[in-house]
Amino acid sequence: MGLFDLARPALFSFPPEKAHALSINALKTGLVPSARLNKDPRLEVKLGGITFPNPVGLAAGYDKNAEVPDAILHLGFGFTEVGTITPLPQPGNPKPRIFRLQRDEGLINRLGFNNEGHASALARLKARKHKRGIVGVNIGANKTSSDFVADYEAGIETFHTVASYFTANISSPNTPGLRNLQAGEALRVLVDRIFAKLDESVDTGKDPVPVFLKVAPDLDEAQMDEIADVVLNSRLAALIVSNTTLDRDMLTDTALAGEAGGLSGKPVFEKSTRVLAQMYRRIGKSIPLIGVGGIANAQDAIAKFEAGASLVQLYTGMVYAGPCLPAEIVKGISGHLDKVGAETVAGIVGTKTDAWL
Ligand code: FNR
Repeated sequence: MGLFDLARPALFSFPPEKAHALSINALKTGLVPSARLNKDPRLEVKLGGITFPNPVGLAAGYDKNAEVPDAILHLGFGFTEVGTITPLPQPGNPKPRIFRLQRDEGLINRLGFNNEGHASALARLKARKHKRGIVGVNIGANKTSSDFVADYEAGIETFHTVASYFTANISSPNTPGLRNLQAGEALRVLVDRIFAKLDESVDTGKDPVPVFLKVAPDLDEAQMDEIADVVLNSRLAALIVSNTTLDRDMLTDTALAGEAGGLSGKPVFEKSTRVLAQMYRRIGKSIPLIGVGGIANAQDAIAKFEAGASLVQLYTGMVYAGPCLPAEIVKGISGHLDKVGAETVAGIVGTKTDAWL
């Protein structure tokens, strides 16, 4: 039994958003001990011109305002992603807006991009700019924006000097109309405008910041075809699969199933991994994928690699398993490479895609 097993009932006696705020504070004050991980060069992944020290990242939505990226990295994550950040601060939806589905080890959230806006996150990221560690910036649009695409352009312009990479998040279910950007023509326009802005912003001679795109798991074959077509004909460096789901079919605990919002955690593992494999089949030879959704242990992370992911991210798993989870997963991946005799993580990517199709 670890320390977190003792702390969890106390933490879970608070409403989810309060528990989240307490955990951010604990990270800020150094109450959470850093992980001790031996360097394992087999875990390094090169993607988008970046060398990731290990392939396990914190997904967007936990550190929305870039308050604790370095504390997160000290837990053993190979990278972290702040945001989603919108140009203007916005309050998000009325509370309560996060719900624990404890029996299924899931969460439903309809936060609606509550965040402090570009300026405040930029100030924090500038203050840590000299530090090492890969910190991606996840950008989105304000709910009341009259031009969603302009908000992504503003994100590129604002953060291009401090972001290790960008994620264009077009898959939150909690900003009405946002997922429409996943449709073929709208997506092409978004991607074109993002790269035009990046070219305009980045000084000549400097490498442009890699841009990833994050999609929903709620996609049919035709929608996946459209996304694959745009991604293959773009300079996108990776596709992140996936955000939360609107699906509720997999829940055993249906008491909260009627709550509006995106479902994450174990219930989304199967669905997000299947879409990952389906996208790997479409684009995997050309564009790397990042697998997210329901990772709760090393086996789950390994399953994502085998389905086609080059990197993985998690969020909800840490709510249930605590801050030791990233280090445990990283060690578990090393152990798996020993067992199967693989020389790198890349060696197991896409080795079991067919099993998911
Ligand atoms: C999220 N997620 C998310 N994603 C994103 O791109 N921008 C965001 O602001 C948020 N916000 C957010 C809040 C909360 C409370 C949760 C639980 C999730 C989605 C997250 O990054 C991830 O894609 C999904 O949660 C699936 O992964 P897990 O949580 O099952 O590991």
